[in-house]
Amino acid sequence: MVTRARVGVLISGRGSNLQALIDACAKPEFPAEIVCVISNVPKVEGLARAERAGIPAHVIAHASYPSRELFDAAMDRLLRAAEVRFVCLAGFMRVLSVPFVEGWKGRLVNIHPSLLPSFRGLNVHRRVLESGTRISGCTVHFVAPELDSGPIIAQAAVPVLPRDTEETLAARTLAAEHRLYPLALRLLAAGLVRLEENRARFEDGFDGAAGELFSPCPPN
Ligand code: GRF
Repeated sequence: MVTRARVGVLISGRGSNLQALIDACAKPEFPAEIVCVISNVPKVEGLARAERAGIPAHVIAHASYPSRELFDAAMDRLLRAAEVRFVCLAGFMRVLSVPFVEGWKGRLVNIHPSLLPSFRGLNVHRRVLESGTRISGCTVHFVAPELDSGPIIAQAAVPVLPRDTEETLAARTLAAEHRLYPLALRLLAAGLVRLEENRARFEDGFDGAAGELFSPCPPN
């Protein structure tokens, strides 16, 4: 019987990465369980996914709070009340305040649909196509105060194909995200990677993990 790390997931929408984490946690040997899902947007698909999986799902609407700090503090209270050990951002579309990020340092991770540190921010796939980059991908990283920055835990690469549109590249990248995030959470929850002196430090034997994560290249 594995000891499971308690995980909270923050979402703002569709929640397909949340679903990938839910599916991973359904496996008996997976070292994490999701005990709390928070959305800053009401009625989104991700909330329904949590409810279907029997996970407590909460809406904390950012618009109801006078400041970013107070909104973050409300989420923080809920996560701590649920005795969460790790927090996964999964399509969470709010910038977090420094006190929140510092309070969860080393226990707060995000997935971003590019090979960071390239293409931080929004409209990633459009900018990747405009740039002529031939390889894109996704990154799971420890969260630092600056947007889409922080020590990298794992990455997966996908090709950018000549006929790609934003939609086809997004779909290919998303498929890689759905494999990458559970893998990164597994490493984190099992204590095989941790934040140390602003680097992701891997236990011996796991520092090659990122190399295994290249996703298959589907035909265009
Ligand atoms: C994903 O592409 C994720 O990398 C980005 O926002 C998107 C969220 O999709 N941060 P979903 O809500 O997980 O389906």
